Amino acid sequence: MVSLSDIRNSNKSLQDLPPGIVAVFAGATSGVGLGTLKALAKYANAPRAYMIGRSKAKASHLIDKLKLVNPMATFVFIEGQFSLIKDVDKICDEIKKFETHIDILCMSPGYISLGGRQETPEGIETDLALQFYSRQRLLMNLLPLLERSSSPRVISILAAGFEGPLNKDDLECRKNYNLIKASRAAATMTDFMFEEFAKQHPTISFIHHYPGEVGTHFLDNTLASASGLLWLPAQIPRYTILPVYTHLMCITPDESGERTLFLATTTRFPPTTDHGTTGKVDGFVDRPYGVGVARSTVMKEGKGNGVYRANSNAETSKVNKMLDQYREEGMGKVVYDHTIGVFEKALSAETGNGN
Ligand SMILES: NC(=O)c1ccc[n+]([C@@H]2O[C@H](COP(=O)([O-])OP(=O)(O)OC[C@H]3O[C@@H](n4cnc5c(N)ncnc54)[C@H](OP(=O)(O)O)[C@@H]3O)[C@@H](O)[C@H]2O)c1
Repeated sequence: MVSLSDIRNSNKSLQDLPPGIVAVFAGATSGVGLGTLKALAKYANAPRAYMIGRSKAKASHLIDKLKLVNPMATFVFIEGQFSLIKDVDKICDEIKKFETHIDILCMSPGYISLGGRQETPEGIETDLALQFYSRQRLLMNLLPLLERSSSPRVISILAAGFEGPLNKDDLECRKNYNLIKASRAAATMTDFMFEEFAKQHPTISFIHHYPGEVGTHFLDNTLASASGLLWLPAQIPRYTILPVYTHLMCITPDESGERTLFLATTTRFPPTTDHGTTGKVDGFVDRPYGVGVARSTVMKEGKGNGVYRANSNAETSKVNKMLDQYREEGMGKVVYDHTIGVFEKALSAETGNGN
């Protein structure tokens, strides 16, 4: 476990780096993503941050506040409907107009609907699109820019340690859909996509992050999504148990953001490549005293694969026998091929809105 004071001291060291860390955030208009963006603004030396979101008005208000935290920082809002693969492609084209490299990609858009399976106009279940497919599309498009960073890192804030079984014939959970099954499948597929990307891009490190219990809008939005017979049973905890739970059990989004920024910058989570004379580094900030390199999801002869399942204390999740079994069965390639197939279908879908 890495202490909060070590995490904060590590983040403070970012001020001593040359200016201009470039970070892209999806989901930073609220919650853990916003907390991470605030921490970057607070600690980094003149960073440039891209905020992908769906409301320019909301983002402008946030950017005004972030500018007060760090007047030397640059914040650029890019508008798009993140649940749509076509919009993700357009968002990436915009980012590529401004940047030739990206250091940190932090993804946290998420929403769990109690209203059952709902598809985007491209035919992907919406929660899965936000938690998994659109995030992977964003990552895939930005890999060439990440490759050009001296310390590229990708973080998907989701549910490491809460992976669940996959049905190879129904990875999109079309049959017998339920939100828990789908969320757990999204977590498992995140591990396998990251492992496949790490094989192709060994200079990048990839972290699937479980932030713990954080007092964000996430549960409130979930309860608010209830309708019909579920509406009343959802409103009661929303205004009684949830505020108490948030107050007593959850860390704040700002603290969660500090913890996530540590994950994004420390040498505790190096990529698989030994850099040698390439000029690249294992992270922007050296590990705190007494803190070792974390255990990757796959270790061979003491060498990691550059993929991590990490919690808010920067500890990695326990080895999971189900994931090991899936690896032996070649699930990584199955998930990768499936995901590319879903992108192709989404791109060819007639969405009727000019997309
Ligand atoms: N909070 C926790 O305790 C907790 C625990 C474990 C895992 N997580 C995971 O962490 C991630 C982030 O959660 P959070 O707590 O930070 O949630 P949050 O405060 O509700 O923030 C969610 C973000 O997702 C965006 N979003 C929601 N629905 C969207 C949609 N339909 N299209 C585009 N963007 C959408 C929101 O954008 P708008 O501002 O436009 O709404 C916001 O930026 C989620 O994947 C969640 O599963 C959270």
